[in-house]
Amino acid sequence: MRAIEWDGKKFKLLDQTKLPESVEYIITDDYRVIIEAIKHLSVRGAPAIGIAAAFALAFASMRIKANAPKQYLRELENIAREIESARPTAVNLRWAIQRLLKLAHALQDVKSIPAILLDEAERIRREDIEMCKQIGIKGAGLLPESGGVITHCNTGALATGDHGTAQSVIVTAIKQGKKLHVYVDETRPLLQGARLTMFELQARGVETILITDNAAAFVMTQGKANLVITGADRIAANGDTANKIGTYGLAVLAKYHGIPFYIAAPTSTIDLDCPDGSTIPIEMRDPKEVTRPFGVQIAPDGVDVYSPAFDITPNELITAIITEHGVISPPYKENLKNQTAAGKVKQPV
Ligand code: MRU
Repeated sequence: MRAIEWDGKKFKLLDQTKLPESVEYIITDDYRVIIEAIKHLSVRGAPAIGIAAAFALAFASMRIKANAPKQYLRELENIAREIESARPTAVNLRWAIQRLLKLAHALQDVKSIPAILLDEAERIRREDIEMCKQIGIKGAGLLPESGGVITHCNTGALATGDHGTAQSVIVTAIKQGKKLHVYVDETRPLLQGARLTMFELQARGVETILITDNAAAFVMTQGKANLVITGADRIAANGDTANKIGTYGLAVLAKYHGIPFYIAAPTSTIDLDCPDGSTIPIEMRDPKEVTRPFGVQIAPDGVDVYSPAFDITPNELITAIITEHGVISPPYKENLKNQTAAGKVKQPV
């Protein structure tokens, strides 16, 4: 099941807020509707919101009335800023928008811009599908022949163009014959693990065990987990990584219990403009998602809530980063730069 579908006529977003209860789609070519879908997590996951954002800008470009290039591009840039600000942490959103804007600026004839931007949005979607497939192929060798894997949030097809990031690695390893079972953190407060990862892995026939987020430490101390693997929303130049809140805690636990902690992400998630994790903006979510999740009141009204959507895992806790090009080992500052510059990584020895 894909998060985003485009057949050249109809643009469909799977409304992930409705899963796993019902499968419903948002069908639209209105960029404002796509912005709302990103804000409310109907479409979510770093690569998927990058793709959705690219289509949003392409659709918006069709409705700009101005004919003069300067005016047209000014309006396009204003809309781009609006889309970019929908969610601040996942860099894929900005990356996709900047890619389209650069293309628009290079064109002389404004009338040609909409069709070219739409083609580019589709190219980003297709490239992401291929990158995620490659992440699985490049990372599967890191996983043991058998054992338990802990994962957090949702990193499957639903979070990307298809295949997923961390989930692509797990599923590829299982397809290769490895006997793995997956402990899925439910992922408070919005339960992307329970609702989405369980839904996807169950459909793929993967042996899964749902755990509450705070059970991970006990699972590790019992020797049930051989590794942790998650996705990323932004990887800074030194390897510090933003991902769903709770990821950092898992990395600390993995270090304490002596098991590897891997990050899997396409290179579109690497942001060399951020020198380290302290410069990654962290999105704060509506307190109601904590006090009244899914319409059920679990804390009194009016309490103070602190709800960061993501946290930062420092690079020294990350055993390796898997991208579509291969496995990157520390030192990340040097190796991430080499990879994004050359599209190649040094394989670990
Ligand atoms: O708030 P979400 O559901 O968009 O958060 C998603 C994650 O944190 C994923 O782990 C991340 O985007 C990487 S998986 C493609």
